Amino acid sequence: MPKLTARLRFIVGAMALALIVALAAPATAQQRNPDSSVNPTASSVREDQLLNELDRISGRCTIPDQKACTIEQPAGRDWRHFHEVTLRWIGAISILGMLALLVIFYLVRGMVRLESGRSGRVLVRFSAFERLVHWMTAACFILLAISGLNITFGRPLLLPLIGPDAFTAWSQWAKYAHNYLSFPFTIGVVLIFLMWIGGNIPNSVDVQWFKRGGGIIGDDHPPAYRFNGGQKAIYWIVVLGGGAVAITGYVLMFPFYGTTIDTMQYAQMIHAVVAMLFVAAMLGHIYIGTIGMEGAFEAMGEGTVDVNWAKEHHSLWLEDEMGRSTKGARTQPAE
Ligand code: HEM
Repeated sequence: MPKLTARLRFIVGAMALALIVALAAPATAQQRNPDSSVNPTASSVREDQLLNELDRISGRCTIPDQKACTIEQPAGRDWRHFHEVTLRWIGAISILGMLALLVIFYLVRGMVRLESGRSGRVLVRFSAFERLVHWMTAACFILLAISGLNITFGRPLLLPLIGPDAFTAWSQWAKYAHNYLSFPFTIGVVLIFLMWIGGNIPNSVDVQWFKRGGGIIGDDHPPAYRFNGGQKAIYWIVVLGGGAVAITGYVLMFPFYGTTIDTMQYAQMIHAVVAMLFVAAMLGHIYIGTIGMEGAFEAMGEGTVDVNWAKEHHSLWLEDEMGRSTKGARTQPAE
């Protein structure tokens, strides 16, 4: 008996569905453009109205995670628009804009040269541990940036170039890299915060440094302690930007642990926008540490700088170091 009832219910249900489809068909058939061509988006217009009126389109499902039963919600559509349109503009403008600015700046200003030449004596600037932390964080950052940008730009830019198979394999590895490298990156940001906080508290010397163009715009050499105003700005971008991408990144990596779909969407938006600005800022940092300034790379490469470099760019730090070197020599001949 219950079987028969169930069967009857199924037949009645199927007939009702057929009737709805039959009635609806002429209506869709009439959804035409003024030139009488079929309007392919007509049905999605009704879906949109339905979505907005009901707030969400959801059904019933048997899996334990009931969130999976929501198929669409208005905020999800706004988020998709952000992800597929707005974010790509923010990323393209900030990253390509920064690259364009750096190229123009290099062509106009050129490399900041060591005016007084090399003295032949060098001064220890960063210990082996400081350099290890810097390079570990930098390497993780570069891989996180490439693998993250693949999520934003991979589908429109890379997929058409390398095809679906290669893109799937690459994206899977990139996603693993993004997840696992987040841990050494976070450790690096914490160590950078602790290691260099002492030299990075802003003070009046930085105000003067900025007012005088930081020695980069023009040929001035404003005094600075161990870190100048520009380096302090980079330090705080790394600490605060790194902190923000780490917190929001872990929210995304461990979904729905104390978060809802709304907070996840906000976390994704903050993560992605901060990441784009972070990449742009780091391009500026890489520029000045390599082709932008003579003698800068060796500070992080070998750990030492020429004494004349210190005199020109960090005169107050050099004075401190020289004061200390009466107790124990800090300078040594260049090899
Ligand atoms: C502790 C550090 C980080 C963690 C835990 C983290 C985690 C995540 C997670 C879980 C996602 C979502 C992936 C997905 O949708 O499958 C993501 C996306 C992304 N991440 Fe990170 N991330 C971190 C650092 C960074 C850094 C340093 C950058 C760049 C400088 C970055 C750039 C991006 C970008 C661009 C996206 C894609 C945004 C989008 O289009 O949706 N992330 N990250």
